[in-house]
Amino acid sequence: MKRIRLPFAPGINVDFADRELALRRVEEWANKGTYPVQVVYGPEGCGKTAWLRQSVELLRELGFDVIYINPTESGARVELGVVDLRERLLALVREATEQGTWGRVAWAIIDIARSAIEARVRKLAIIVDDVFQAIGIDKAALYVKGLLGILEHPPAEYERVITIVATSEGVSLREVGRHNWAEFKPIWNMPREGFKQLYDQIPGGKPPFEDMWQVTGGNPRTLLRLYKNNWNTENTVKELIREKDITPQFTVKWRTWLEKAVEDPDALWNPDAPEELINELIRMNLILHNLHDRDPWFWVDQPPPEKDSELGIGKYVAWQTPLHREAVRKALESLKADGSSP
Ligand SMILES: Nc1ncnc2c1ncn2[C@@H]1O[C@H](COP(=O)(O)OP(=O)(O)OP(=O)(O)O)[C@@H](O)[C@H]1O
Ligand SMILES: [Mg+2]
Repeated sequence: MKRIRLPFAPGINVDFADRELALRRVEEWANKGTYPVQVVYGPEGCGKTAWLRQSVELLRELGFDVIYINPTESGARVELGVVDLRERLLALVREATEQGTWGRVAWAIIDIARSAIEARVRKLAIIVDDVFQAIGIDKAALYVKGLLGILEHPPAEYERVITIVATSEGVSLREVGRHNWAEFKPIWNMPREGFKQLYDQIPGGKPPFEDMWQVTGGNPRTLLRLYKNNWNTENTVKELIREKDITPQFTVKWRTWLEKAVEDPDALWNPDAPEELINELIRMNLILHNLHDRDPWFWVDQPPPEKDSELGIGKYVAWQTPLHREAVRKALESLKADGSSP
């Protein structure tokens, strides 16, 4: 399979690295079809989009027609043999790129997929990447139900249909999870060897690999951010605090629990841990809560370790990356520096 090139930073492209198990998983789906809809979630910037874009190539090679959209990045790939359906979808994508009407594209895909099956497309892959914001998180479950309908009540016989939905919005998972219309498949940051393949492709002087592994936990976007900031970790943490809106009010309010969670994220698994805080940390995309069993069967790629206190990974709760934890630690430290210490 041809490895795609990915833009890493201005003027730097990299080859898609590793994710061997995740690609094998796609092959498995291509052989068996998916039932029900597969909802893939994982830390932000862990490489879901990159993997899905590489998967489009893989599925093409395996003889699939493919519909892929990513409203958040205004990205789409329409590989449909039925010309009028392809043109219809591409016209909607063009309109969405100009006017932001991505919600309309997302909903139209369900109808177009059904028409493609009616037109005797035998192998079809529908991949919707980060679509829940565009359609409204409250409609996430309904949307997944619509995709499931393609599998359960197709308008004609088909050989194989696969439907993959990817998201890093922890909130949307709850909405979808109340029904059994989807199977949840988590993906973690890159495994160490795979991450090294990416690290090695970055030109110029750079900090030792081991340091970057400890700061990023294998998260490719965090590596990219560090590169962009001339490898200045402190500034990157400050940037994250601002971006995540980790305000002094928030930090003061939850200080005791945040201090515990920085030491060990599993503190948030304690029955006494405030639900309001857990919900906030999920909404802010700082943690993953209720981590799956580490049996690789449940995961799209290599699962995270059972527990790794250096990387902020607990058995049930994990910081999305060590840098996310560092942002909270820094915010707590700033309280002390500002004299709000008890
Ligand atoms: N396997 C990989 N090989 C090379 N580069 C990668 C790989 N995975 C991710 N990247 C790069 O890392 C960055 C973040 O990855 P990507 O956008 O795929 O993450 P994501 O999980 O989709 O993020 P989000 O949660 O925001 O949707 C991108 O610049 C991407 O090109
Ligand atoms: Mg993405």
